[in-house]
Amino acid sequence: MTLDVDLPRFRKLLERSCEQVLSLYETLGERRVTHASTPQRIADRFTGPLPVEGRTPEEVLASDIPFIFEHSTLNISPRFFAYVMSGGSQVGIIAELLCAALNVNSAKWHLASSAAEIERAVIRWLSAFIGYREDAGGALVSGGSEANLYCLRVARDVKAPGAREEGCRLERPLTLYASTETHSCVTKSVEMLGIGSRNLRRIPVDAHFRVDVAKLEERIRQDLDAGMQPFCIVGSAGTVNTGSVDDLDALADVAARQGLWFHVDGAYGAAAASVGLTRELFKGLERADSIALDPHKWLQVPFDAGCALVRDWASLRHAFSYAAPYLKAKSDSVERWDWMGHTFQLSRGFRALKVWMQFQVHGSRKLLAVIEDNVRLMRRLAAELDESPDFERMAPVPLSIVCFRYKPAARPALSDDALDLLNDRLLEECERRGVYFLTGTKLQGHTALRACLVNHRTREAETRGLLAHLRALGEELMRRPEGP
Ligand SMILES: Cc1ncc(COP(=O)(O)O)c(C=O)c1O
Repeated sequence: MTLDVDLPRFRKLLERSCEQVLSLYETLGERRVTHASTPQRIADRFTGPLPVEGRTPEEVLASDIPFIFEHSTLNISPRFFAYVMSGGSQVGIIAELLCAALNVNSAKWHLASSAAEIERAVIRWLSAFIGYREDAGGALVSGGSEANLYCLRVARDVKAPGAREEGCRLERPLTLYASTETHSCVTKSVEMLGIGSRNLRRIPVDAHFRVDVAKLEERIRQDLDAGMQPFCIVGSAGTVNTGSVDDLDALADVAARQGLWFHVDGAYGAAAASVGLTRELFKGLERADSIALDPHKWLQVPFDAGCALVRDWASLRHAFSYAAPYLKAKSDSVERWDWMGHTFQLSRGFRALKVWMQFQVHGSRKLLAVIEDNVRLMRRLAAELDESPDFERMAPVPLSIVCFRYKPAARPALSDDALDLLNDRLLEECERRGVYFLTGTKLQGHTALRACLVNHRTREAETRGLLAHLRALGEELMRRPEGP
């Protein structure tokens, strides 16, 4: 019994799916970025029981896909400024289709030899793209969270060899260091590795949201005196809140002096390390022992595609290589690159194809130009905000995140608490209208509107439009009887 339909019908189904993709992109300019439905309406749509008989694929495509498209948040839209999410790419869409058609398991060389070698090439290219080592080891993973987990796993194994077998019940507890601005996935990773989040020391930041290096060194000294075992410093190359980049060179110096692993979370920012406008900020990145970066962010590769890079292939192999008899490679192998020996997964798709095709088709020059363009647009937006009497910028803009708040000039006496409330409502209202989408954060305890751009489709029309839209919404909120 086969699940396949005949090939002429399969061709029609593919054509129909392509039509749906095309119509999504044809109407992108007019579509809302967020949808207008209630959570209940969407939940209700999917409460049906397990289908026993199934329906025709034509019916599913016609009746369900439009609903799903309608009720998805469109980070592919040029008016999307929330979180750190790229617009994906046409090449990526094609690569995903081709991957599913081939359905190979890239865990073992003899199951997917092209996929295995393409992933090796992609690791080399990603490393070169950010100015890291040509011979760096690495693996493609689901995203920045998993990339950080992988890198910290390797760091733990190298710096505390007993931890792998004995767990973290070492005589001297392991400690590691990161700024208060570090992404929460580092905390999650530390918990998953059994190190314990209390042993992740959160070091304060300076006025530019960069880790305070003197305080970091002081904390390491205190821990050493208290009998702890410091093993790793985590630097941020583009924090999720403001895009700040730690002084990586200074962190590398501290790590070298203290004999610690130096890991950099560059999930968002590392892609900008070779961009002319921002290169200086990343001095010292090349000294990292490991780096997390995300092709599905600034490289515009569709979800999901993260990458863990390590200075030394052997350290990655040591962490993940287990020999089970039925998995043994053939003895005649010249060098068969088995990804299962470098990663956690034993069944893994061909994630590398979409990254490889992105580089093949666009080349590094164009991808760098997209990043540079995004930085330029957001710095221009920041300059406009600085000149606007109704807005206040709340953080520097080293990369492509602008944090600010609406602060109407006509109401100079509004307290910080009232401004928090006003800006919270502004964010809610903006999401409800769905024309633009941005998210908020807290900076020094206060609500900030946070616009982040990692999208090749966005132009100045959209950044200017965002500001005009927020101003109009703010004025409307101020006119409401309940006031700010
Ligand atoms: C700095 C930073 N690190 C890690 C992550 C987590 O990456 P992912 O969402 O791909 O797991 C993010 C996500 O925005 C990030 O900005």
